[in-house]
Amino acid sequence: MERRNFLKVVAAGATIVAVNPSLIRGNLYASDGQLYVAYEKTQIVDAAGIPIKASKLETEVNYIFNYPYASTPCILVNLPKPTQQDVELTAENGEKYVWKSGVGKERTIVAYVAICTHQLTHPTPNDSFIMYVPEKTKTMAYDKSGVIVCSSHLSAFDAKAGAKVLGGAATQPLSAVILEHAADDTLWAVGILGMDKFQDYFKAFKPELKQFYNGTAEAKKLVSISAKTVKLTEFSNDLIQY
Ligand code: FES
Repeated sequence: MERRNFLKVVAAGATIVAVNPSLIRGNLYASDGQLYVAYEKTQIVDAAGIPIKASKLETEVNYIFNYPYASTPCILVNLPKPTQQDVELTAENGEKYVWKSGVGKERTIVAYVAICTHQLTHPTPNDSFIMYVPEKTKTMAYDKSGVIVCSSHLSAFDAKAGAKVLGGAATQPLSAVILEHAADDTLWAVGILGMDKFQDYFKAFKPELKQFYNGTAEAKKLVSISAKTVKLTEFSNDLIQY
């Protein structure tokens, strides 16, 4: 099992401690200050339920899957170049943590929670204002592409560096999905790194979640065993990108 995506957590003013997420069961921090939560280890599969092979992911395509809850969308992208490693990030409460790297043979595969940390914009079956913008596509949010953009207020996040904020209204990175890349080339989600917005999201979008997931209980169900992924173009009717 290749586990390049080990994370490190930096406690304020303390020595960096390497933590293997697969060894953590439960919260690393208390519920209001947690920076890493291990969730059910979940295999990423295609719409037919067949395990996705990391080496078969198309480059610079937005794939969407829901994790760790049935209604919380995440973006999976195979970047054109290897990601940075050991990126120090800062949560909006000032706490520092480290995103280790992407996974896959070339360290190009990343996944982030696609709920904007500014005002919770996220992909729905109707539309998506948040997505990875390929290197050759222009965006108004940042002078270079190859970044994740939330077009609601033009926030840009560095896809190759733990979704660090590059510009716009957002004040903290998107939460990262911690991935494992297995020896058989399959991909697994194992936890969430960064200050998540899940509870705010459930509260703010109660009516929509009721509509799309037949009630909030379904929407808040934890994903387990497998998570289906499709291209964003198949998930949302309308992609809005500035
Ligand atoms: S909601 Fe994403 S930038 Fe404002």
